[in-house]
Amino acid sequence: MTTLVRARLFHTPQSPRLEVYEDGGLAYEAGRILAAGDFERVRAEYPGAEVVDRRDCLMVPGLVDAHVHYPQVPVIGAMGMRLLAWLRDRTLPEEERLADPGYARAQARTFLRQLGRNGTTTALVFGAHFMTAMQVFFEEAEASGLRLSAGLVVGDRNLTEALRTTPERALKESRKLAQDWHGRGHLRYAVSPRFSLSCSEALLAACGELLAENPELLFTSHLNESEDEIATVAGLFPDSPNYLETYGRHGLVRRRSVFAHNVHPTAAELESLARAGASICHCPSSNMFIGSGLFPLRRHLDQAVRVCLGTDVGGGTGFSLFKEGLMAYQGQMLLADGVALTPAHLLYLATRSGAQALDLEDEIGDFSAGKAADYVLLRPPAGSTLEVVLQHSPSAEAALAAVFTLAREESVAEVVVAGRRVHPSLDSPDW
Ligand code: GUN
Ligand code: ZN
Repeated sequence: MTTLVRARLFHTPQSPRLEVYEDGGLAYEAGRILAAGDFERVRAEYPGAEVVDRRDCLMVPGLVDAHVHYPQVPVIGAMGMRLLAWLRDRTLPEEERLADPGYARAQARTFLRQLGRNGTTTALVFGAHFMTAMQVFFEEAEASGLRLSAGLVVGDRNLTEALRTTPERALKESRKLAQDWHGRGHLRYAVSPRFSLSCSEALLAACGELLAENPELLFTSHLNESEDEIATVAGLFPDSPNYLETYGRHGLVRRRSVFAHNVHPTAAELESLARAGASICHCPSSNMFIGSGLFPLRRHLDQAVRVCLGTDVGGGTGFSLFKEGLMAYQGQMLLADGVALTPAHLLYLATRSGAQALDLEDEIGDFSAGKAADYVLLRPPAGSTLEVVLQHSPSAEAALAAVFTLAREESVAEVVVAGRRVHPSLDSPDW
């Protein structure tokens, strides 16, 4: 059975150029896109398709959050601290609670529900320090239908006893989780040292060993987020020429490596990132909330470093990638050499760039035929500011700009992954 959804359709197949169909159609069957374009043209091509009329909605590809922490929902909005104090006083104590698998499962469910209701269909998730917490996470992730990559977070110094592991244990537990979950349905495994500040050379070497054993795995960590953090890492790794190289010397900087932040890079680090094809995940709301700094997007683009977008919940201020796009825009506006981000560029950052970073470009990120039918339908609540602004938008670009500025979870009407609805869930009162 072919389904044909009729809506106002936006995507960036030749990013960051915007492609818009005011009366658009997306045809798909068995979870795969057959065609996207003008509704009448697509209908003529698939006359037998079941038409789902969503002309009251805007449609965008499923959003990709390339950096978000599963255990950190309870610390969203923890004000008054910069990174290292925020970790020590609020975040790591909360993460210790995930030692209890029952608590971890409840947190996993809450977290996954928040992703779905914000239109996020794919995420690279920073996990928890406990193997049991990751087992229950992957179980819940599989049930959610979302496309998720995640891994056991590992560190063996500058962490409390409860969160510390050893290189041997990290290797053994990560290997087992990767064997059990990588490539199962929509799930993949990401090797995840917390950051060099909490890792010995031996632990980072163990991470390198895992990637060497299975190069298909993803890799994720933090990089150059705050000035205090960078100075501490320099003291811990006196032989390393820079922060990136603490990972690079263990084979951790490559395609399928995604580093969050990079607010304060050196020119040499940008060059190495570009050469390796590794990605930087820009997390603007977190950088502003924790006071880490404004992201030098221009320097990344000039050096052809791949950049994608993440919420970094709970340093970030919520799950909305639309809000994250707005924050990215505002951050660039405040920089003397900021990039003048267009709505098309924001949509690219929230969709296709994430697909590229996660090496899922052939599968998701836009509505090209053959890709998976992952999409979000947006319908502003009656009487909302977004509804009013959209009624007056003079162009498709202006409408998309209004979406990034004003659309939040209340406007996310339906979220579909591979042709299957993941939000609202069938038992939800919203449906
Ligand atoms: N660096 C190491 N751990 C974290 C974390 O949980 N959040 C952020 N923003 N930075 C980190
Ligand atoms: Zn983070």
